[in-house]
Amino acid sequence: MAILTVKNLSKAFPLEGDTLKAVDDVSFSVNEGEIYGLIGLSGAGKSTLVRCLNLLTRPDQGQIWFDGLDLVDQPEEVLRDKRREMGIIFQHFNLFMRKTVRDNVAYPLRIAGKSKEEIRTRVDELLDYIGLKAHAGSYPAELSGGQKQRVAIARALALNPRLLLSDEATSALDPVNTELVVTMLRKVVEDLGIAVVLITHQMEVAKVLCDRVAVMESGRIVEENTVEALFLQPKEAATRKIVRGFDEDISLEHLADLTSAPVYRLGFRAGSVTRPLVSQISRRFDLDVNILAGNINALVTGDIGYLVVSFDGQEERAREAILHLRSQGVEIQRLTNGGNGGYAS
Ligand SMILES: Nc1ncnc2c1ncn2[C@@H]1O[C@H](COP(=O)(O)OP(=O)(O)O)[C@@H](O)[C@H]1O
Ligand SMILES: [Mg+2]
Repeated sequence: MAILTVKNLSKAFPLEGDTLKAVDDVSFSVNEGEIYGLIGLSGAGKSTLVRCLNLLTRPDQGQIWFDGLDLVDQPEEVLRDKRREMGIIFQHFNLFMRKTVRDNVAYPLRIAGKSKEEIRTRVDELLDYIGLKAHAGSYPAELSGGQKQRVAIARALALNPRLLLSDEATSALDPVNTELVVTMLRKVVEDLGIAVVLITHQMEVAKVLCDRVAVMESGRIVEENTVEALFLQPKEAATRKIVRGFDEDISLEHLADLTSAPVYRLGFRAGSVTRPLVSQISRRFDLDVNILAGNINALVTGDIGYLVVSFDGQEERAREAILHLRSQGVEIQRLTNGGNGGYAS
């Protein structure tokens, strides 16, 4: 069931006597409980798109179906209610610097006219949930980036939204805090079953969080797929740029220099558990597995990627190992024949 359906959305800005199509005829749907990624390089139109979703920016054209209503047609009172069902978090947290953590989280509840008692209970619950109860009286400046973003998440969740919009929420964070916020977002989706539109330029964030990803370039969605499919078979140049490093061409001549044994490319699909498989065949078939190249990515659905390997050991054993790997769903391609026997076709 789709919670959000965007149809033919466009937004242009005047630019030097001309117009810049920041969002250009974009359509997509987000299902309940889904983390839907919008990924693209800077300037692709991601932030403009997300601001259109809650009508903070009015689109020039298109429809935004949320909860059975096209938001574009709704009067301001209805929009105000619907916006409460969409939490939003930003790269730079947008916390009130002069308010405590407690007051920041309480803010949307106050605006919505909740009673003091209700506010206290709900804020306590939220601070507990994000693990910052002890910081209730602190000011944002006293917190780390990751903590600030957790406060922003608590504030976004205060009114029990059904959709969370996240615009580059981890882009200003170091890797440790990125990991903390990623974990938090995953927990939010699991615990509350809400949907997320996750905007990022970081593929490493999209790949560990998103179910499906749309790649944006020059205001358009150029490709949309599951994270797995985007990694396995990126179709568009923009997608390949973003998943770069994943499938860089390996020089066969270079491989033949590295070993005289045959060289194989092992393609791992999501769901396989790469590392245990490799050490398993090494033990079981008494082989040394030489990893010559590769790139394994941990996705929501399991590991995905490839390893380029050769096997040191008896040829017969290597053959058995390959059959075993195939039986485990690993895709195997022979890249070189070894023994200076040339390259396999
Ligand atoms: N308010 C605005 N006025 C004019 N141009 C804008 C405005 N907001 C965004 N743009 C332009 O629209 C394009 C897309 O910007 P943005 O949506 O911020 O992209 P992203 O978030 O993917 O980096 C950029 O070229 C940007 O300069
Ligand atoms: Mg942006």
